[in-house]
Amino acid sequence: MKFVSCRQDWVADPCDVLVVALDDEWARRPEFQMIDRASSGWFARVMHSGEVSTKPNKVSVLIAPTGVPASVLAVVGTGSKSSTSCNTYFRAAGAAMRALASKQRDILRFVGFGNSPLETRAAICGAMVGAQGQDLFKSEKTTFAPATIQWVGANDAQIRAGEIIGESVNLARHMTNQPPNLMYPQTFADRATEVAKDAGFSIEVWDKERLEQERCGSLLAVARGSVREPRLLIFRYQGSPPDSEPLALVGKGVTFDSGGYSLKPTDGMLTMKCDMAGAANVLAIFNAIAKLKVRRNIIGVVGLVENLVSGDAFKLGDVLTARSGKTIEIHNTDAEGRLVLADCLNVALQENPTQIIDFATLTGACVVALGTDVAGLMSNNTQLQGDVQSFTEKCGELTWPLPMHSFYGEQIAGKVADIKNVGEGRWGGAITAAKFLEEFVQGRPWVHLDIAGPAFMDSPKPWCDAGGTGFLVRSFAEWLLA
Ligand code: BES
Ligand code: MN
Ligand code: ZN
Repeated sequence: MKFVSCRQDWVADPCDVLVVALDDEWARRPEFQMIDRASSGWFARVMHSGEVSTKPNKVSVLIAPTGVPASVLAVVGTGSKSSTSCNTYFRAAGAAMRALASKQRDILRFVGFGNSPLETRAAICGAMVGAQGQDLFKSEKTTFAPATIQWVGANDAQIRAGEIIGESVNLARHMTNQPPNLMYPQTFADRATEVAKDAGFSIEVWDKERLEQERCGSLLAVARGSVREPRLLIFRYQGSPPDSEPLALVGKGVTFDSGGYSLKPTDGMLTMKCDMAGAANVLAIFNAIAKLKVRRNIIGVVGLVENLVSGDAFKLGDVLTARSGKTIEIHNTDAEGRLVLADCLNVALQENPTQIIDFATLTGACVVALGTDVAGLMSNNTQLQGDVQSFTEKCGELTWPLPMHSFYGEQIAGKVADIKNVGEGRWGGAITAAKFLEEFVQGRPWVHLDIAGPAFMDSPKPWCDAGGTGFLVRSFAEWLLA
């Protein structure tokens, strides 16, 4: 699938499908008027018939009339004109693409998607998301990406930027959708090595031996139950002079979370291939920033393990020593993500970052609190927290703050060790998990994003297939580009 800017007379030159976005004030849109004129009033009759909805993400596939040299005219609604945003166009483009992706097509031409460069990039990203499904292993595919997409109303540079961001979101989705028998620490590291080479950033891979030398006792404990050995990856991208301190991105990469001896029931375990979505996000954001050539120094750290049971797996009551030197008492082997991140955060600190942002499918409690469309946002720094909340909202990927008062931290005091890996009981579980992470950032400005809800969808949305979503990749690519 390739994107090109449409320089032709978009209503007169042939294509397979002409895709047009219309809001509730459609009669005033130039796109409507041009198609109406070309079709000698046919389009106005269709729109006035009330058969074509302009409600958000409603797609009407019409046989194109005489005068419009396409076989199909697809109309997608964007709802109320006064409330259009990045998300409006991301979703509308995704919904249109998903509706049209049911069969192989050659040239699609999109017109009317976005009123600003940010909205246009969101729409291009949406179209790419709509063209990729989770049908990875079906012998008969159900999603077909078109060969070419012609985009009306954006120049080559804007299109290229949107395409890079869309490719990155789809990379995160694809990796999350890979089944856990194929996606494990080593294969994740292999893929990351390819991505780094292609995009142009450096990667360092720590294997089990190196992790032992580095005394990553917390991460290694989680990994011990699996025959698949753990990895820790460090990404480095340099977009400004070497002496300017970097931003650090950290990701949870549990390629499968069985819960360990605190075993999950079948229903809860079924989708736990998604537990590496945080790590996939970090890799995908690196792909974007390196290809977009953002002017910042950024480092990434992801910890990759499989949380399984075996005769050698870590147990309840075990005491671990994290890389920072803190000792941790294990009260629940299913609270493993924070153990992996504890060592990753410590490795990140070594690079002297000005800010740290971590992405993790960390707690079911966060999903209970905020549902599946909003990520939990926890921080030790109100300024950074506010920045993250506002730009993710602007991009249409919602994050919402949870309180971080010190008394939550009292719940993780250890009995025989410094801290324990869960709070007292289940209440406030997203926050006690964040308090645990805070123990490992040494007061550096830090934001924790709990993406357990939005990183993976059990059922499809009109604009996106079920499975991995790449949630927040788009916002962070845009934030770092700005
Ligand atoms: N990976 C899970 C969290 C999760 C739940 C992600 C649902 C995606 C969807 C995490 O490792 C976990 O098991 N957390 C426990 C923590 C508890 C034992 C303190 C949880 O949320 O139950
Ligand atoms: Mn777990
Ligand atoms: Zn987990």
